[in-house]
Amino acid sequence: MKVTVVGAGAVGATCADNIARKELCTELVLLDIKEGLAEGKAQDMMQTAALLGFDTKVTGSTNDYAKTAGSSVVVITSGIPRKPGMTREELIGTNAGIVKGVAENILKYSPDAIIIVISNPMDTMTYLALKATGLPKNRIIGMGGTLDSSRFKYQLSQHLGCSPADLNAVVVGGHGDTTMIPLIRYATWNSAPVTDFLNTEQQQQVINDTMVGGATLTKLIGTSAWYAPGAAGAALVESIVRDQKKLFTCCVNLDGEYGQKDICLGVPVTIGKNGWEIIIDFKLNAEEQAAFNKSADAVRNMNEVLNTL
Ligand code: 2OP
Repeated sequence: MKVTVVGAGAVGATCADNIARKELCTELVLLDIKEGLAEGKAQDMMQTAALLGFDTKVTGSTNDYAKTAGSSVVVITSGIPRKPGMTREELIGTNAGIVKGVAENILKYSPDAIIIVISNPMDTMTYLALKATGLPKNRIIGMGGTLDSSRFKYQLSQHLGCSPADLNAVVVGGHGDTTMIPLIRYATWNSAPVTDFLNTEQQQQVINDTMVGGATLTKLIGTSAWYAPGAAGAALVESIVRDQKKLFTCCVNLDGEYGQKDICLGVPVTIGKNGWEIIIDFKLNAEEQAAFNKSADAVRNMNEVLNTL
């Protein structure tokens, strides 16, 4: 089994590192356009193999897609990250061209690959990858909601004083500061509703902190975060290569589900050997559905910008 991660920046390298440590494949290729970067990071990772005890063979490549040939899963992290004060949406002009080129190159050498998109603005980049490759929709997965749901669990755990791993909580909608929808009504601490333990003000705080989770880190670090985005990408790779059929929120092409069509947006899906497999229909109430529709409108407007580039 071969996996490729395109983009050897912080997110791509962290994703690759998680994949290697978990031995999710025998061969892992890290590719970047910057001369030597992917080779260097791959070698650095391989120098942890004796210490960590993994057998995945990690190699790097400077823009030679032939080295990625025959990959079963490809993670796209390419593009520029946001700087403090920037929205993810502001990256579209630069990242659209990069992601389109990467998706086309990948397909030439790995026609059967499942593609995971991490590049921002993630919802629009996922839609672009779908349109640029013409692949069946189940093979194009945007990672955003997986990350946002993990951040939601972190925020809840801070208020509840519990383990994030004991929480079930999903964020649906877009992967934008104002477009994501943390579904607190559905969140549980093991099986007890978290709303039983948090007052309205605490609930609102958790929702707000989750929505600006990425922006908060960008302000603190000076660039976009990488540990959680990289780990989220690797969790999706794991569910695919081990055919776990785990439930994650992912950005997928909707065809009437959740009342939307011709858009890629975050909804709960099972992830297995075929990519995203089943969309799970959480019954949204009127307020949640209205928020979802508003999120779809914002993402659709962003998708239209693609026609002007
Ligand atoms: C984030 O939210 C990279 O979009 C990613 O940190």
